[in-house]
Amino acid sequence: MSHSIAVVGTGYVGLTTGACLSSIGHRVTCVDIDVTKVSSLLKGQIPIYEDGLADLVADGLACGQLDFTTDLVAACESAEFVFLCLPTPAGADGMADLSAIHEVVLQLRGHLRAGSVIVNKSTVPVNSARMVAELVNDPAVSVVSNPEFLREGSAVRDFLNPDRIVVGSDDPVAGERVASLYLGIRCPIVVTDPVSAESIKYFANAFLATKISFVNEAARFCDAAGANVLEVMRGLSFDPRIGGSFLNPGPGWGGSCFPKDTQALLTLAGRIESPLPIVEQAVSSNRQHIDQVVRLITDTTREVGAQKLCILGLTFKAGTDDVRDSPAMQIIEQLEGITPELTCYDPLARTSIPTFATRVGNLNEALDAADVVAILTEWSEFSAIQPDLLLDRMRGRVVIDGRYLLDPTRFIPYGIEIRSIGRQVPK
Ligand code: UDX
Repeated sequence: MSHSIAVVGTGYVGLTTGACLSSIGHRVTCVDIDVTKVSSLLKGQIPIYEDGLADLVADGLACGQLDFTTDLVAACESAEFVFLCLPTPAGADGMADLSAIHEVVLQLRGHLRAGSVIVNKSTVPVNSARMVAELVNDPAVSVVSNPEFLREGSAVRDFLNPDRIVVGSDDPVAGERVASLYLGIRCPIVVTDPVSAESIKYFANAFLATKISFVNEAARFCDAAGANVLEVMRGLSFDPRIGGSFLNPGPGWGGSCFPKDTQALLTLAGRIESPLPIVEQAVSSNRQHIDQVVRLITDTTREVGAQKLCILGLTFKAGTDDVRDSPAMQIIEQLEGITPELTCYDPLARTSIPTFATRVGNLNEALDAADVVAILTEWSEFSAIQPDLLLDRMRGRVVIDGRYLLDPTRFIPYGIEIRSIGRQVPK
């Protein structure tokens, strides 16, 4: 059954949510305060790179199931469901800053129709659904927590083929109504109370961040012990209790969610005096790992007397143009004053880089005359690098492979050394 839905906020979560809900048959109006963004969206131009999203938006606009506006009240007063997909950045105290949610809910107070449901999709501290219910102060309006688990780069796929849907509500009827919006999407639905739903979101991200910190710690250990971290992870991956995914070592975790959400969870844990030492250590271990990547780069450039370093990849992972809390960007910042000439290349990153570095527009130019290359994002363009290309373009013969993309044994016959933390290379 088709329902009328307003989605407030057109960031990557809001836009994906709106476009996907319209694609499964609902009538959706997305709201944003940014006039320029809304006028671009009305023309089908989307401001972020997200696989499949532009097509869904175009389809939704063409069939009239999807609309965009800056008029918050007009979009929400007739809606059966109002999804809040607003930014919740880290505030000065480390907690999520809920001012955008406060402001929107206050503007909506008194304008929502009886029986409507506010659905909280933004990642918010536990108890936020109850806080929103108090703010809206209308017994005829329910508030339900429905956290998202969308990965950037595969957000549309994740929305339409989720591992689970979580619905948290004190009002079972409102909870059921929100769950029924996803009819047609086959996956387990966890219906629970709002505080548990909000906690699920934080602990899912904290667990995944911890998993990557653990893998990267294993890489550092393998480096010192003489083991191969990829072999170790392959050996772990067949144990279903560990699971084979999310076991790739890298240059550290980043992105719009893990750093912000682990910080918010730790601050909250401090406030309620229930410390989370494992999560604290996962955050600190990630910092140590980024430092170790910086050390590997600087030790290598010193060792070979490099005059030019090339960094490949700026985004926090492949498949997105997002550099928020990207390890690559943090590594570049730490190289200020200690790097030789630095050239960077990324096929998609939406960012400027510090003035001591130069960003170039293609891979060949980035590699030109480089003494050392460091790969920090797993773009397929970098996995496809062939020995010939490096021989043609580079001056030096060492590649630091922070994403374990290149098979060192293929490069040895060409005199090219591929270095990674925790991967021993036969000489
Ligand atoms: C994450 C969660 O996966 C998603 O469910 C949540 O809603 C938002 O946060 P995202 O930030 O898009 O999604 O990135 P994700 O794919 O989870 O990767 C996070 C970080 O871990 C990246 O820096 C990535 O490079 C790193 N990572 C991930 C690894 O280093 N190795 C891996 O095996 C997986």
